[in-house]
Amino acid sequence: MNKITAPKGTRDILPDEIYKWQYAEKIFAQVCDLFAYREIRIPTFESTEVFQRGVGDTTDVVQKEMYTFLDKGGRSISLRPEGTAGVARSYIENGMGSIPAPVRLYYNITAFRYENVQKGRYREFHQLGLEAFGSYGPEIDAEIISLLSFYFNKMGLKSTKIKINSIGCPSCRKTYDILLCDYLRPHLDSMCSTCKERFDKNPLRIIDCKEARCKVITMDAPALLDNICEECSTHFAALEENLKTLGISYEIDKRIVRGLDYYTKTVFEFVSEHVGTQGTICGGGRYDGLIEEFGGVKTPGIGFALGLERLLMEIDSQEIVIDKPDNSIIYFANLGQSGADLAKVLCMNFRSRGIKAETDLMGRSLKAQMKYASKTGFRYVVVLGEEEISAGKVKLKNMAEGTEQEILISDMYCMEF
Ligand code: HAM
Repeated sequence: MNKITAPKGTRDILPDEIYKWQYAEKIFAQVCDLFAYREIRIPTFESTEVFQRGVGDTTDVVQKEMYTFLDKGGRSISLRPEGTAGVARSYIENGMGSIPAPVRLYYNITAFRYENVQKGRYREFHQLGLEAFGSYGPEIDAEIISLLSFYFNKMGLKSTKIKINSIGCPSCRKTYDILLCDYLRPHLDSMCSTCKERFDKNPLRIIDCKEARCKVITMDAPALLDNICEECSTHFAALEENLKTLGISYEIDKRIVRGLDYYTKTVFEFVSEHVGTQGTICGGGRYDGLIEEFGGVKTPGIGFALGLERLLMEIDSQEIVIDKPDNSIIYFANLGQSGADLAKVLCMNFRSRGIKAETDLMGRSLKAQMKYASKTGFRYVVVLGEEEISAGKVKLKNMAEGTEQEILISDMYCMEF
């Protein structure tokens, strides 16, 4: 019979490694809280239209990578390939426009993309992200980039320079598209079939194509940042000023266009050399037209998402140590019915005082229980049998030091470590 395995591009996160995930998630939640972001939980799947209209139907994510299916009621459903579109849908549906702006939301989600699986690129992956709605000014762009930098520092990352760019607004994009098409036209025959289609519909997406032949062609394409309108240029200059005021180190990278259609003006990424060819750990930007695109009142937005798998790879490659949680504290080896009963009661007493405690529930021999306690790494072991109970005292064994201390059973109920 064939062995059952996890689907390609998915993986189990096992108890021995989960502490790193929990730590990264906990620090993210703490940092978001410090910056006044509140958690939102959105559905794992949405109507396909949410992503077609939000992320854009000429993007790789929507055209090639979405898990889309008809449900039993004949509705087209897609597993979320990212969080922004769902959060924007929720913002409108739940009337969050009436909350005083900026409305700051953060999330911790799984996302799904049918991609070619390789190091750092999975079909199910995890994102920590946030979105802020309602503020047009560059101050919030700078605050979000500073939050990201603050988080990276808290996680102990050493090189955290964030790359920024501006991809302008729909009006400067129109002018730029003409310029880009003039540049690309002579190379049209050598491009992949998807990019040939994109040439008429959305030429900027060609710059983001993952095909090697298209990458070569776009290498010397004119940069959007050199062709943005005055308003977008003023916004970008003010963002730089704000970042300088906050002391955030950044670098301008005119090649960043991002792979999703909703972006306007500011875009940013954090890229590492350690995470395989897919080095982008985090990406984000402003999307001032998304809420309107979804039928809501025109409202600006900005946010980012970072890939947890890639962040943890970076943490490992920078040899940053995340402390393992304490091993279990105390183990009650038990003998006979009265020993087993008292062990259970003492375990509950210790747990109620916040101390991890365990006892044998499988009727194992004393030798087997001691072997289990030492393998599991308990700090203390106590043997509870008829003899100890009638004497009213036990020996508390310190496993690391190999020492023993006699202690009254009655004192164990208020014992501290
Ligand atoms: P994104 O750049 O598509 O942006 O994804 C954000 C991050 O998710 C990436 O930088 C990467 O770390 C991680 N990621 C993406 N695809 C995969 C994959 N197949 N395997 C592992 N990790 C992956 C967004 O998703 C936007 N929603 C970000 C945003 C929020 N923009 C504004 N607000």
